[in-house]
Amino acid sequence: MHVAIIGSGYVGLVAGACLAETGNDVVCADIDAAKVARLQANDIPIYEPGLEPMIQRNQAEGRLSFTTDIGRAVEGARVVFIAVGTPPGEDGSADLKHVLAVARTIGRHMNTPKVVITKSTVPVGTAEKVRAAIRGETASTFFVCSNPEFLKEGAAIEDFMKPDRVVIGVDSAEAREALGELYAPFVRTGNPILFMDIPSAEVTKYAANAMLATRISFMNQVAEFCERVGADVHDVRRGIGTDRRIGSAFLFPGPGYGGSCFPKDVQAFIRTAGDLGMEFDLLEAVERVNARQKRVLLRKTIAALGEDLTGRTVAVWGLAFKAETDDMRESPSIPLIEGLLAAGARVQTHDPKAMETAHAVFGDRVVYAAEPYSALHGASALVIVTEWLVYRNPDFARIKSLLARPLILDGRNLFDPARLAAQGFEYHGIGRRPA
Ligand SMILES: NC(=O)c1ccc[n+]([C@@H]2O[C@H](COP(=O)([O-])OP(=O)(O)OC[C@H]3O[C@@H](n4cnc5c(N)ncnc54)[C@H](O)[C@@H]3O)[C@@H](O)[C@H]2O)c1
Repeated sequence: MHVAIIGSGYVGLVAGACLAETGNDVVCADIDAAKVARLQANDIPIYEPGLEPMIQRNQAEGRLSFTTDIGRAVEGARVVFIAVGTPPGEDGSADLKHVLAVARTIGRHMNTPKVVITKSTVPVGTAEKVRAAIRGETASTFFVCSNPEFLKEGAAIEDFMKPDRVVIGVDSAEAREALGELYAPFVRTGNPILFMDIPSAEVTKYAANAMLATRISFMNQVAEFCERVGADVHDVRRGIGTDRRIGSAFLFPGPGYGGSCFPKDVQAFIRTAGDLGMEFDLLEAVERVNARQKRVLLRKTIAALGEDLTGRTVAVWGLAFKAETDDMRESPSIPLIEGLLAAGARVQTHDPKAMETAHAVFGDRVVYAAEPYSALHGASALVIVTEWLVYRNPDFARIKSLLARPLILDGRNLFDPARLAAQGFEYHGIGRRPA
């Protein structure tokens, strides 16, 4: 099938590569000319495991190409995905200006009947706005549908190729047939394509992210409670996760959720409800808890080292908002490091993949270490923000010899408190009982 994907970010690139991988002819279009030039040269601007070889292979074999000519990409396609960003507007609602600009362009290039799919995360009612924007430009036949994306950065290829489910909101046989055909290769093992009406598909995406964010904030508060009563959240998590009604995924406390999706999607869900006269107070609490949690590592560092960190060095392992990505949008590392700098500390950082992104955030205000151990020299504490595999089984003797004080503040509960205490560390996790 001839496919155009407008917006070549995390979602557009992954969808484009995976659809080309299954034999479709895919054109990925973007307004960012520098990004497109890099992609044409097989230089992938983001880190996502498995993406680079897939793009290279499909580009070499002629099934995948990149362009800034959005009109041409649309004209050559039977199905057009809109995968541009939907950043939060000033009031927290999703800003649809990119989505609707693309819709108008699609309308102007409607040379044959096409299926237009909103893949960007958009509030309920957006497909109708897309339909109206296209209709404003053309009298030709077209079909709109909603296909929210559930991939996780860091496992995006795997998620796209083997989705738990594919959600498609449709109101036409044409869209249903085209999308069913396009997704058939990804659901061969029986995971379902869930067809539903368009508003339900749009709400499903927000409900999924809001539920996941709620679990995280819930566990972060349980962790805080555990600290106060001397319980261990590690055991509590196992104790509840084995209940099949609860399940074990997404029960890890941490330094607060970040990334490009949960914060903005929770906010947008609250805002859409507000526009409808409904107070989504549960999600307001989820957000409040998360805002507080994003400062938990700073609070713990200051509790251990004091408020004035002038002349002190603090080492930070992990800058990305989670492992296996270079994405730092809304990362808890940002409030931590800004707080440390404001308190006068010198900050020495390491991240396996996010150093380039980090430079755009912190510039030369922090030290970027080429490998984890060189971030530790003379530091009064090691603070761990991201759960990268490379941090999970480190050489503790070496860590101890490099740190000025053997203090580890672990935002991801990577280590056994008893083991670290036995090796002479002061070790604080999130909700863990100190040994
Ligand atoms: N990143 C994720 O994990 C994820 C997961 C599921 C859903 N989503 C949703 O998918 C959408 C895209 O997210 P992303 O992370 O890929 O964003 P991104 O910021 O990485 O990429 C968006 C791309 O769209 C391009 N763009 C903007 N305006 C354009 C226009 N008028 N024409 C052509 N291109 C344009 C930008 O240049 C950019 O390359 C968002 O709505 C997001 O909420 C993201």
